[in-house]
Amino acid sequence: MMNFTVDAAGCRYEVVVGPLAKAGRRLGDLARGRSVPVVTDERIWALHGATLSDLLHVEPIFVPEGEAAKSWGQLQRLIARFAELNLDRTSPLLAFGGGSVGDLTGLAASLFKRGCPVVHVPTTLLAQVDSAVGGKTAIDAEGQKNLVGTFHQPALVLADVALLDTLDERQLRAGYAEVVKYALIGHEVLFDWLEDHREAILSGDRTMREEAVSQCFMAKARLVEADPEDRTGLRALLNLGHSFGHAIESAAGLGTVLHGEAVAVGMALAFDFSVAFELCPADDAARVRRHLASAGLPTTIGETGVDRSALLPLIGADKKNEGGRLRLVLTGGIGNAFLAPDVEPERLAGFLANAG
Ligand SMILES: NC(=O)c1ccc[n+]([C@@H]2O[C@H](COP(=O)([O-])OP(=O)(O)OC[C@H]3O[C@@H](n4cnc5c(N)ncnc54)[C@H](O)[C@@H]3O)[C@@H](O)[C@H]2O)c1
Ligand SMILES: [Zn+2]
Repeated sequence: MMNFTVDAAGCRYEVVVGPLAKAGRRLGDLARGRSVPVVTDERIWALHGATLSDLLHVEPIFVPEGEAAKSWGQLQRLIARFAELNLDRTSPLLAFGGGSVGDLTGLAASLFKRGCPVVHVPTTLLAQVDSAVGGKTAIDAEGQKNLVGTFHQPALVLADVALLDTLDERQLRAGYAEVVKYALIGHEVLFDWLEDHREAILSGDRTMREEAVSQCFMAKARLVEADPEDRTGLRALLNLGHSFGHAIESAAGLGTVLHGEAVAVGMALAFDFSVAFELCPADDAARVRRHLASAGLPTTIGETGVDRSALLPLIGADKKNEGGRLRLVLTGGIGNAFLAPDVEPERLAGFLANAG
């Protein structure tokens, strides 16, 4: 069991990496004898609901699986249910699922009665290493991903890697791309460690998974603490590979290429682009591509099947850009990501035309 504290935007909260069964007291302290509404989907509940019900009195509220949960309609349904249950501002809500359940529940919790506590119990690798910490919440609207959202830091995060045992292999590998991301942003030593332990992490070794999740939590927490609301450019480093990645996801059609798969290609492209402009050693880019490929992840635009000419306009429309300037996370090598605030579109166009 490993414990961390995150101190962001005036909120201090605990992150526990370890078996859920051992976290009963913490949940009980928040619930104070009340029944806790648990937002989840039917698949997750069927697989793991009993683990939670054994710990406290719960009231499951079901939402559709995956991205379909992140809609105005589902947000409205949740708020209506909270009102029906007559929750007050101190009632904790529990998000039990992947990033989609977490994003929707976090948003509903931030809005209901101007904000009530949310506990994240993430059930995917992506959610355990990324979305459960940091307080970003969102639904999709007007055809745009994460268009509507808030910052709402959780009251508690409990990450039990045993929940990952039932995760689909492809989802697991996609989540692993985000693990690699933390190493590439600022932790070369973590990258060395991942090169040695990739197989163990992917094949289900619990100790190695806990270590990986903990390392990622710490890396994310430091960036979130330094820049809780994504204003100074530090938190933006978490978007390494994401400008390319989001464009690939959109060009492929949402859900065709998984987020983590698109990010894997995006990170390889960010390294290649940095090599092309002599910012990064070519050996580092080759090492990154080898590692991602050995984890069963795509690393080239070709593998995703998208039309490369569609990417530039989509990158230009990315909401991370500011004042019409193109912002990209580039790199000086493994562990040395930086934000390039004003990339020339012509350079990017030339690169994309020939990129792998
Ligand atoms: N808030 C943030 O900071 C942040 C960061 C990264 C991503 N996100 C968001 O996260 C979402 C993606 O989340 P995700 O990749 O976790 O997937 P997801 O939440 O969309 O879930 C994917 C599928 O996995 C299933 N599943 C979940 N846990 C399972 C388990 N333990 N066993 C078996 N099946 C399980 C679900 O039923 C669902 O069908 C995106 O909407 C993305 O925008 C948010
Ligand atoms: Zn991501």
